[in-house]
Amino acid sequence: MTTTATALVEPAPAKLNLALHVTGRRDDGYHLLDSLVCFATAGDVVTVEPGPLSLQVDGPFAEGLSADDDNLCLRAARLAGLDARIRLTKNLPVASGIGGGSADAAAVLRLARRMGRELPQMPERLGADVPVCVASIPARMQGTGEILTPLPPLPPLHLVLANPRIALSTPQIFARLGRRDNAPLPQVPSFADVRALVAWLSATRNDLEPAAIDAAPVIAQVLQAMTANGAAFARMSGSGATCLGIFDRPQTAQAAAAALARHGWWTVATELAPAPPAG
Ligand code: C5P
Repeated sequence: MTTTATALVEPAPAKLNLALHVTGRRDDGYHLLDSLVCFATAGDVVTVEPGPLSLQVDGPFAEGLSADDDNLCLRAARLAGLDARIRLTKNLPVASGIGGGSADAAAVLRLARRMGRELPQMPERLGADVPVCVASIPARMQGTGEILTPLPPLPPLHLVLANPRIALSTPQIFARLGRRDNAPLPQVPSFADVRALVAWLSATRNDLEPAAIDAAPVIAQVLQAMTANGAAFARMSGSGATCLGIFDRPQTAQAAAAALARHGWWTVATELAPAPPAG
């Protein structure tokens, strides 16, 4: 699909769980979470043009992602009543704990809104992370993902994302959990600076991290490499295997991303994403 003047472009930023506590499980098997979520400028890109509903996938991680009817972008378009030719440029690894299909579906919903459609009720039907990805702002996420509390802006963050090129199945990581009744997050204050954020994060966890390391021990090496290369803080996002590091300067983040890439891991140095324009 060549892009024309009528195309609308929407970023699908990477979703990062800076902290994620598993606080319970519903009768239907879904887990109750308490998570501090933010978004990075690194991400996929969704483009739509007028035409009958269709999906084309390109980009470095297009392989292994089917563009069939089950693709979350098409399901989101149908839910929002959007008829359009959709192009998904997949820049981020799939099944990697940073939003993936949910972030892409959320970008389709934002595009539908830009084209005058109403946001569908209960977007979490598409995926637990879809509501927070539609908002794409720093937020505390509770319930199974549908309860959102927007947070005051976070301090600027210089981030590295690294994935050891392992796709993990979210249900399989949840199934490995030992405990599902952990305490909620401590109260989330307004963070004056990165030091305050890191101090707060140090008293939190990603409860899925030990289960994911159990399934893929290389994740522990990625986290160690973040710290060895100067990260003030390192943690796995979501159900993994992508890990995030917080660095004090863009230059240290870029040097760390280059050092981690030498292991053969996918890496990117990135920043906090600006909030999307209000729809
Ligand atoms: O909602 P989504 O399709 O992204 O979730 C994938 C799987 O992850 C679910 O089928 C469920 O097994 C697990 N999950 C969960 N609790 C959540 C979110 C996801 O158990 N809050």
